[in-house]
Amino acid sequence: MKVGMIGLGVMGSAMAMHLAKAGLLGAVWNRTRHRGEALANELGVELADDLSALSATTDVVMTCVSADEDLQAVIAELTPALREGQVVIDTSTVGVATVEAIAAALAKRNVRFIDAPVTGGAEGAQAGTLQVMAGGDAAALEAVRPALEAFADTVTHFGEVGAGQRAKAVNQVLAAGMVQAMTEALAFADASGLDTEALLPVLTHGAMGSRLLERRGARVLAQDFAPGFRMALHHKDLQLCRTLLQSMDVNLPLVEMTVKHYERLMAQGHGDDDMSALYRLKRELFTTGNRKSL
Ligand SMILES: NC(=O)c1ccc[n+]([C@@H]2O[C@H](COP(=O)([O-])OP(=O)(O)OC[C@H]3O[C@@H](n4cnc5c(N)ncnc54)[C@H](OP(=O)(O)O)[C@@H]3O)[C@@H](O)[C@H]2O)c1
Repeated sequence: MKVGMIGLGVMGSAMAMHLAKAGLLGAVWNRTRHRGEALANELGVELADDLSALSATTDVVMTCVSADEDLQAVIAELTPALREGQVVIDTSTVGVATVEAIAAALAKRNVRFIDAPVTGGAEGAQAGTLQVMAGGDAAALEAVRPALEAFADTVTHFGEVGAGQRAKAVNQVLAAGMVQAMTEALAFADASGLDTEALLPVLTHGAMGSRLLERRGARVLAQDFAPGFRMALHHKDLQLCRTLLQSMDVNLPLVEMTVKHYERLMAQGHGDDDMSALYRLKRELFTTGNRKSL
């Protein structure tokens, strides 16, 4: 099996690296070509000129792009080049309706589609320890499982196409709660004049410890908000959660609050910061004594 990787950002480049290590990477492609050149050289793999060149040399095409419209644009350009029997796997976080529509269009060409969003962050991608939440035909998933296992600890099948994205939406609600809790607690700790260097390991190893706190806590306190996971991407994910929740006639407080907070920060130009830049707002609460509007 040879895999063609489309989208060499934070996540896609790490996935490509692990696919190459497993001997499964056939070619890579990135919209902004120069960003793919160094990686292609390092991995000793072809940087395809276009999507049809990438498709021609691979059995499985994997995508990892930002949002729904980006995936739709890539698939529209890729589709004429796909061959019967190929499998397309998307690892981006996008809407259920989007992946269902793509799967239906590709099925007409006898190309199978798997939605396979991931969790584990940039660190998990680098380490090859992501968790994959998959939706689609079970036999197709089994056929491509080695490609996903090249960068994942677990690959869990949740059902039809779209089920992977539903599982990922649940994860993103959890992410909203975790980032809210971490940034608020650390701003409180800092404003209390505590020795945060001493406090961090205590919190991390205590009952409320989390991987997020372990990975990001010290950086947040140092106000280092390099991504990681860009705030604009988590904001996009929470909009996807909202769409699913609307069909259940539900607003979730954490989702609504986090969207509001991110929009405030994105309007100030912080959308490309890591999502933990939410700390900026939490610090402000202590400097402005704002007790009314959250
Ligand atoms: N970062 C994380 O921790 C994390 C964790 C889990 C899931 N995810 C999800 O994984 C996906 C990728 O995230 P990331 O952090 O890797 O993002 P990123 O670093 O911003 O990379 C985005 C990639 O998508 C490409 N792209 C964007 N729009 C495109 C378009 N219209 N046509 C072709 N290529 C396009 C970009 O190409 P250019 O280089 O040309 O811009 C780049 O290669 C997102 O859906 C995100 O929500 C991210």
